Parts: sequence; structure tokens; C-alpha cells
Amino acid sequence: MDGKVLNNDITQVVEADRAHVWHHLIQHAPWTGTDPKADPRIIVEGRGMRVWDQKGKEHLDAVSGGVWTVNVGYGRERIANAVRDQLIQLPYFAGSTGSIPGALFSEKLISKMPGMSRVYFTNSGSEANEKAFKMVRQISHKRYGGKKYKILYRDRDYHGSTLATMSAGGQDERGAQYGPFAPGFIRVPHCMEYRAQWNLTGEAYAEAAVNAIEEVIKAEGPDTVGALCLEPVTAGGGVIPAPEGYWPRVQELCRKYDILLHIDEVVCGVGRTGTEWFGYQHYGVEPDFVTMAKGVASGYAAIACCVTNEKVFEMFRDDTTDPLNYFRDISTFGGCTAGPAAALENIAIIEEEGLLENTTKMGDYMIDQLRALQDKHAVIGDVRGKGLFLGAELVADRTSKEPVDEKMAQAVVADCMAQGVIIGVTNRSIPGFNNTLCYSPALIATKDDIDEIVSATDKALTKVFG
Ligand SMILES: Cc1ncc(COP(=O)(O)O)c(C=O)c1O
Repeated sequence: MDGKVLNNDITQVVEADRAHVWHHLIQHAPWTGTDPKADPRIIVEGRGMRVWDQKGKEHLDAVSGGVWTVNVGYGRERIANAVRDQLIQLPYFAGSTGSIPGALFSEKLISKMPGMSRVYFTNSGSEANEKAFKMVRQISHKRYGGKKYKILYRDRDYHGSTLATMSAGGQDERGAQYGPFAPGFIRVPHCMEYRAQWNLTGEAYAEAAVNAIEEVIKAEGPDTVGALCLEPVTAGGGVIPAPEGYWPRVQELCRKYDILLHIDEVVCGVGRTGTEWFGYQHYGVEPDFVTMAKGVASGYAAIACCVTNEKVFEMFRDDTTDPLNYFRDISTFGGCTAGPAAALENIAIIEEEGLLENTTKMGDYMIDQLRALQDKHAVIGDVRGKGLFLGAELVADRTSKEPVDEKMAQAVVADCMAQGVIIGVTNRSIPGFNNTLCYSPALIATKDDIDEIVSATDKALTKVFG
């Protein structure tokens, strides 16, 4: 590695971290002792698919920055240069005005999203989803006397960490102890065939899963339901693509009951699923809202977007006699210009390097390799996903599908880490089902990278399960 920080002793950094940083999503107790092995991990530098920690140890990152984000890989100088130049020209102005990168990125993004037309800038996936929820509520007030306010969300899906997005959260462990939640968010069943809720398969299963959504709509009253919010492929809830036939029926349902369709592309968006820019585009869906965050600028700057079609936008413009009839919302950091400047370069990299094609090719290769691993290790009950967004669900018994103890799944991740390969596992998600190994390498991944990731998993499974 060629980092500057490691030329010096960074003990002081580790101690400052231990004393003062409150890390995300982790129990701190193991770091309060004096055992140096229990130091908080600090990632110091990244290049391509690899990162180095405070001890100079190299890791192959199979999860794009831990949470499926750094899609174009580390060390992209052209993104850094574009951000630097933009910051010197103009770092910020509130989003009630326009900016050069904001306008140019919006144009570029919309060119990848036929049927969509407007980009609302925010700074996190949670916030982008909240914007869509607020728009649904405002539409309900303006057009339906406040009645069509309910937002349907799906079991196992996740839409963010704020209280409103947690109210739309289908992962009960994530939500535990944070209630009470906001009213008006209604859960519908998941569509995961491996954990079947009906004794059906394939298209028949898809149909049953959509019928189950329809039952909820009818029970709530269709005139009270404003929107349906879904992940195209459920991420943290277990990496779950919908069965064939699901999406066209979802679309039909939304049209039948005049329900706006909100697709949360925070993980899938901007290339992760391969071939198409967005997950929903594989299935011919025509959404009203598309939210996105992580891969938009691959983590080089904080940016998220709530994109709508013109039908939605028009509902906030059509009555100028009503002083409340526009979207009375602001995201302060939605006005940061670094985000769209980085996002423009990010999209150019994906285009110029053919990364959508690479994602499909490498995703197909990786799923085959994981399936070969499934033949070898009985503990892998299911392998699923799309593009470079894959999961391997671990079960104690293939027939009963009893999930492995989550500590065992975590031991596999820890062993891969010790081997220098960072993989993920569903974490504090569905009670009793934190048992799916997660893979989301950068879209630049090569066959060699994938072989290394799969081989580390193979060794770890042998070590943990025999
Ligand atoms: C599908 C999905 N939606 C929304 C979010 C929330 O995004 P953020 O953490 O940027 O608020 C996440 C985060 O993991 C996510 O996976």
C-alpha cells in the first residue's frame, strides 16, 4: 500500500477512536479492554477492490465499503478531482436554487430512467424515502381530503434508520425498542419463496404473494392507501429477488387501486444488479417514485435522490392559487454540490468501463461459484441474488430449513476477515434469521477477485461447520 498514515504510528488514532467514536451498528463492549486484538478496526486506505486497516493488513472488500456502496471501487482520482474543482468553484447553495452539477447530473440520471422526470436531492437513503412519504401524504391532503394517506411496506424490506422510515421497516429486530412508530404504515407479506408462506412455487407463488398484498389493500380500504413502497431486491432482509411474475402483478395492483408505486433503489440503484441501471428496470416496472443513495456517487460524497415522474411533480405545481401547493421541504445538505459532481463522474466511469456488463458477467460467474459451493457444503441452503448482489443462506438442516445460529454465520464472516476477505451477513434484521451471508463486491470485480472471495468462504465454512 502507498498510504501516508501508516508511515507513522497511528496508536493515537486508535485510542482517540476507542475513547470518542460511537460506531454504527455495533456493540462496543469488546473494545473497552486493553487487549490489542480487540482494537476498534480503522480502515485507513483503499485502492480498487482492496482496503488496508490500521495494522497495514490488506483486505479484499466483497461488500463495497461494508454496506454495498463503493460501486466503482476505491482510489478514483477523477471523482476526487471533480469534487475538488467543484468545491473551489461553489461548495454549497440551498436547493431552492440550482447548481451546475445538480442540473447536469439530473439530466444524465433521467436519461437512464425513461418515464421519470424530476430529481429531488437529499443526503441519505432514509431521507430520500422520507421525501417520497411526505409527497404521498401531501398528495393525499390536497386531492383526497387526507384520506389516502397509508403507505404499504413489505415484510423483510428496510427503508432507513429514521423514525418514519423505521415505521415502514419490515425487519423486526432493527425496529425493536425504537417504537412507538408513526401511524399510517401498513405491512404486507414478503415474497421470498425459499421461506414460503404458501405451498406453491414459481409464478403461482408470485401470484399468491401479490394476492396477499391485495388482501391488505382491501382490508384497509383502497381509498385509504396512497402508496406501496418496495425494494426491487430486498437487501438487508436476506438478499431476496421476487419470483417470476411478481412485478407485473404489483404494477397491475397499483393501477387498479390508484396507488403510487415507490421503488427503493438505495442498494440496487446505479448498476448493482447488472445490465440495467436500476433494479426495477429488469422487470418492466413503471414507478412513480424511485429513491437511491449508496451507489449514486459510490460513497465519494454524500448524495441521495428522490426521483419522481411528471405526474407526481405536476401535482405540486398545478394550483398556484393554493399557497401550500408545492413541496414545502428542504434538505440543507441536498444543496451540497460535491454530491452531484461526484455522481456525474461515477456514472461516466460506469459507462466508459462497461461496468453494467461486467456486473452481469461477474454476477453470473459468482452465483455459479456460490452454487458450486452449495454442492459442497450442506450448510448452504439457498443461493440467490442479481448481478453483483448475492446472498447465501445458511441452514442447520436443508429439509427443515432451520437457520443456523447467527453466531455461526458471524464466525464465517470473522474467519473470512482473518483471511483478508471482507464479506457480510444479515445483521439484527429478522429475528432468528440473521443467517444470510452477503456479497456485493464493487462492479469492477474480476474473476480472480471472485475466486478469492469464494475460496475464503469455502475455507471458512469448512472451519466453522466441518
Ligand atoms: C434498501 C435501503 N433503503 C434505505 C436505506 C437507508 O439509507 P441510509 O443509510 O443512507 O439512510 C438503506 C440502508 O442500508 C437500504 O438498504
